[in-house]
Amino acid sequence: MLPSESFSLANTDIRVPSRGLGTFQADPKVYPAGSVKDSVLQALRLGCRHIDAAFAYEWGSVEREVGEAIRESGISREELFIVTKLHNCFHKPEDVAINMSMSLKNLNLDYVDLYLMHFPYAYKSTEGYGTQRTSDGKPVVDIPLSRAYGSTWAAMEKLVDTRKTRLIVQNWSDYSKQQKYTLPSTKSRSTHIFPKKVLSSFVSLRGFTLLRIARLGGALIPAITGRQGPGPLEDPTIIEISRKYHKTPAQLMLCHTICRGISVIPKTNNPKRIAENFDVLFQISENDFNTLDNLMGERGELGIRNLQTREYLGFDNFNEEIEEP
Ligand SMILES: NC(=O)c1ccc[n+]([C@@H]2O[C@H](COP(=O)([O-])OP(=O)(O)OC[C@H]3O[C@@H](n4cnc5c(N)ncnc54)[C@H](OP(=O)(O)O)[C@@H]3O)[C@@H](O)[C@H]2O)c1
Repeated sequence: MLPSESFSLANTDIRVPSRGLGTFQADPKVYPAGSVKDSVLQALRLGCRHIDAAFAYEWGSVEREVGEAIRESGISREELFIVTKLHNCFHKPEDVAINMSMSLKNLNLDYVDLYLMHFPYAYKSTEGYGTQRTSDGKPVVDIPLSRAYGSTWAAMEKLVDTRKTRLIVQNWSDYSKQQKYTLPSTKSRSTHIFPKKVLSSFVSLRGFTLLRIARLGGALIPAITGRQGPGPLEDPTIIEISRKYHKTPAQLMLCHTICRGISVIPKTNNPKRIAENFDVLFQISENDFNTLDNLMGERGELGIRNLQTREYLGFDNFNEEIEEP
């Protein structure tokens, strides 16, 4: 099986490069200012054209570094596929365009290619759109506004009409929840979720395209990490198969994901790994593809990072039995 260079998005003529670069920096002390710019610039020079950012990543400073790298690269805008996300403190319909303008200013762009509702719930904001927090530092969820996400979505649709973004996306892991709270309109829609195996098949049947985050197990974040035990890069079967192809476990995981028709956006600031993560379009046998697929079926997604919403937000966002946001 040979992984593709790009996929068409949500039954449109828009194509998303299958290989991208993530920019979520788990710890600013470890990744000092300038490191995102350096990584993005290196990736762009290697040929990567797909960059995943978010306003929430250090309140726009990651976006600013992405923008600086794009400018310095000299690559024309049309060649790039740039993603960013609506922050939880901007879910009021009148705030959506404000957050988008802030992101575009940070990125120094006129439009992005994909705009995500970063999470399917809103935070109560302080003056100046800061996050209201409890005494133990957890964000305060605005439940009525979270449930009114259809109005947030409608405001995001206007961003397509005004050409601030080419597509808008929900960033939800649970397709049934997405259906439960029906969206007001289906135009310009695609989806971006953590694909579980069954969900991937279901979604591809519906003609959606998936983007894959945290394929390598995700950077560990003390507040929200749910990863137990070793991640996919330490898995003995993955290590064994990767050796056959003279590739690293990370390269095999990324190649396999792309073979499943899913774009990847691994994050690293390590120059060697940036190059490694881009060199992932190699042929794997159907047998090895199936072994990897079955591995995921047996063990879930091999210990990827999950947002522990009950611990962090006070409710289980992914539980269908309860009526929370
Ligand atoms: N839409 C959303 O809600 C959402 C949520 C989470 C993430 N994302 C996006 O998805 C991107 C990826 O997710 P993620 O950063 O959580 O997880 P990830 O890419 O699966 O994992 C990142 C971790 O893997 C390490 N790594 C990267 N390449 C490697 C390699 N070749 N070999 C060994 N280790 C390697 C990195 O360490 P070093 O940096 O030290 O190399 C880092 O600790 C994010 O950066 C972000 O852009 C989106």
